[in-house]
Amino acid sequence: MEVYSEKKQISKAISLLKSKKGSVGLVPTMGALHRGHLALVERALENNSHVVVSVFVNPTQFDNEDDLEKYPRTLDEDVALLSTLSKERILVYAPTVDDIYEGNTVSEKFDFDGLEFEMEGRFRNGHFDGVGTIVKRLFEIITPNNAYFGEKDFQQLQIIKKLVEKCHIPVNIIGFPIYRESTGLAMSSRNTRLKPEYLEVSPFIHKTLIAAKKRFGTESANKVTEWVKNQFYNHDLLDLEYFIIADTETLKPTKRKSSKKTYRAFIAVYAGDIRLIDNIALN
Ligand code: PAF
Repeated sequence: MEVYSEKKQISKAISLLKSKKGSVGLVPTMGALHRGHLALVERALENNSHVVVSVFVNPTQFDNEDDLEKYPRTLDEDVALLSTLSKERILVYAPTVDDIYEGNTVSEKFDFDGLEFEMEGRFRNGHFDGVGTIVKRLFEIITPNNAYFGEKDFQQLQIIKKLVEKCHIPVNIIGFPIYRESTGLAMSSRNTRLKPEYLEVSPFIHKTLIAAKKRFGTESANKVTEWVKNQFYNHDLLDLEYFIIADTETLKPTKRKSSKKTYRAFIAVYAGDIRLIDNIALN
């Protein structure tokens, strides 16, 4: 399997593939790959002749230095895992910060029509400008036909669809359902940093989302939100940052339910110093 660290080299390899009428799928990641990432790559392999997996811990999307520093970096293991899927059809792009940012590690400023100010945008300053910057650069370098993103970061997925629409980037964005541990915990590279006592209680998050979904069938968004807050109020180890029921398209909090709209519940929880997010479709 080829591992590229320079954009010039991977661009050349992709031009060659495209000249032979190949199609390219992109799975952008920050590495520390798990089953959820592999499911995205498998899906991309079904739809494209070749798949580029980018592995890059993007500094501009972190608002917390400590989180950036401690983010797991496991390139050798990542490459070994990807090799189990295909050695010939997967290309890994693992650039340095300089290869991407060329000495100017700052974000571009984006207008995502307000999607960026909801939920994660309220709690992670500048996060979506950082995500928009790296994803746009990856699209410019890789020129994929299709790009794959997990629904665990549902707000990110909606923002990337907006990025592509606003910047007229010719790529199909494909969302993929959340991949879960058998306990229900949404898979995330950050899970490896959970201490055992937090790992043990973490399924509570998904269980609460399922219960909230059931309640949403008969109760108002406000009532469900209050109920969820109470569940966490008395929890010894999990600290609720937010629980929001939002319109799937606008991501604005729901005031009154409409049968014409679709809704999702979004949650962010601290398990010690590890921040976990999750979400669930409600209707
Ligand atoms: O979802 C992620 O892992 C990252 O936000 C992404 C899309 C790879 C950009 O750095």
